[in-house]
Amino acid sequence: MSDDDKSKLSRPRPVRESISEMTEIVLPNDANPLNALLGGRLMHWIDLAGAMAAHRHSRAYVVTASIDHLDFLVPVRVGDFVILRSSVNRVFHTSMEVGVKVWVENYRSEESRHVSSAYLTFVAVDIAGNRLPVVPIVPETEDEKRRYEGAARRREIRRAETARRKRC
Ligand SMILES: CC(C)(COP(=O)(O)OP(=O)(O)OC[C@H]1O[C@@H](n2cnc3c(N)ncnc32)[C@H](O)[C@@H]1OP(=O)(O)O)[C@@H](O)C(=O)NCCC(=O)NCCS
Repeated sequence: MSDDDKSKLSRPRPVRESISEMTEIVLPNDANPLNALLGGRLMHWIDLAGAMAAHRHSRAYVVTASIDHLDFLVPVRVGDFVILRSSVNRVFHTSMEVGVKVWVENYRSEESRHVSSAYLTFVAVDIAGNRLPVVPIVPETEDEKRRYEGAARRREIRRAETARRKRC
């Protein structure tokens, strides 16, 4: 790898370079007997959409360390489109918090509704599974700055919760 390529990989990157979008059409195999999307399938798609943003920012392999609490706000039916938008909220050292927001779109009624929002933490690793430091992220818009601040608070809550579980 040239020095120029190395410096491109090590520079801080704006949040916008991590933004990813994934669209799925809900098929019968994704649904329960009531024709509603399975929660587990949506969790899988959330994990993939989150990983895309983490890969784009870190330019590295990543593993999912945790997924925060998830609510499913409205049912999603067979034939609906599911749109998942993700971006990196904040980088710590080897880990990153990624936000994923999920929308359902019905192309017949032209209706679009918020289904779920999730925060995931990914850790960058090399091919042997050793953790790697991640380049800093630069929030630019007001929303990005708000999510950046929120990510630090959520990390403290996660750490306190992990410590509490270890004591039990
Ligand atoms: C995630 C993992 C790499 C953390 O490794 P570890 O040896 O526990 O490392 P540490 O405790 O030193 O933590 C390393 C980083 O991960 C973060 N982390 C660890 N556990 C975490 C959790 N449950 N939630 C959020 N972040 C977590 C730490 O805060 C730290 O972040 P930082 O470097 O930015 O400060 C390790 O637990 C692992 O490999 N888990 C399996 C991952 C996996 O298989 N995922 C599903 C398939 S992709």
